[in-house]
Amino acid sequence: MTRTIGLICGSLRENSYNRIIAQSLTDMVDSFQFRWIEINDLPLFNEDLEISGVPETVTSFNSAIQDVDGIIIVSPEYNSGIPGVLKNALDWASRPRESAVLTKKPVGLIGATPGGLGTAFAQMQIRQILEAMQVHVLPFQKMLISQVHKKIDSDRKVLTDDQTKRYLERYLQQFIHWIDHTPVLD
Ligand SMILES: Cc1cc2nc3c(=O)[nH]c(=O)nc-3n(C[C@H](O)[C@H](O)[C@H](O)COP(=O)(O)O)c2cc1C
Repeated sequence: MTRTIGLICGSLRENSYNRIIAQSLTDMVDSFQFRWIEINDLPLFNEDLEISGVPETVTSFNSAIQDVDGIIIVSPEYNSGIPGVLKNALDWASRPRESAVLTKKPVGLIGATPGGLGTAFAQMQIRQILEAMQVHVLPFQKMLISQVHKKIDSDRKVLTDDQTKRYLERYLQQFIHWIDHTPVLD
């Protein structure tokens, strides 16, 4: 059975560079299929909703995470940190704590920005948050894409820079290896 990598984009913007980068991954391997996991319909996290009953969007979001073999988050950086919409989604995915769907899930991190630092600060925060949730974040490797507006064709919404494609292919291969080799820790 073909295994699946879920893609979460930390930007809700229609012409998001990060979404274009995430989309480019879907053509890079045949051995896995890819599935978008959307975060735009999630309500703001509120523990009261856990008592009154979580909305269907949250249940579907958590099921989508459960159903995939690994997840790659492709996110911008806002004000040197994680976008609020992504943090909101991760908070939902961390509940209920005993059966949280992201626990032990292999996760990779990619970020793109027109700026020069490739979302390094946001990725540090996302990694810290995921570690608190006991997620198996791909260690050591960083996939930071700076000056992204020069590396894509905005009209066709495709990645055009060959070097970035090669980096992404290598990152994806490492992530696939990670899916099969995440440590078994309790
Ligand atoms: C509120 C806000 C804060 C931003 N802060 C940063 C930042 O700290 N670092 C950075 O590299 N880019 C920053 N940017 C620029 C984003 O990288 C840029 O808008 C990018 O295109 C967003 O990603 P997207 O194209 O996937 O939507 C910021 C943008 C906004 C709207």
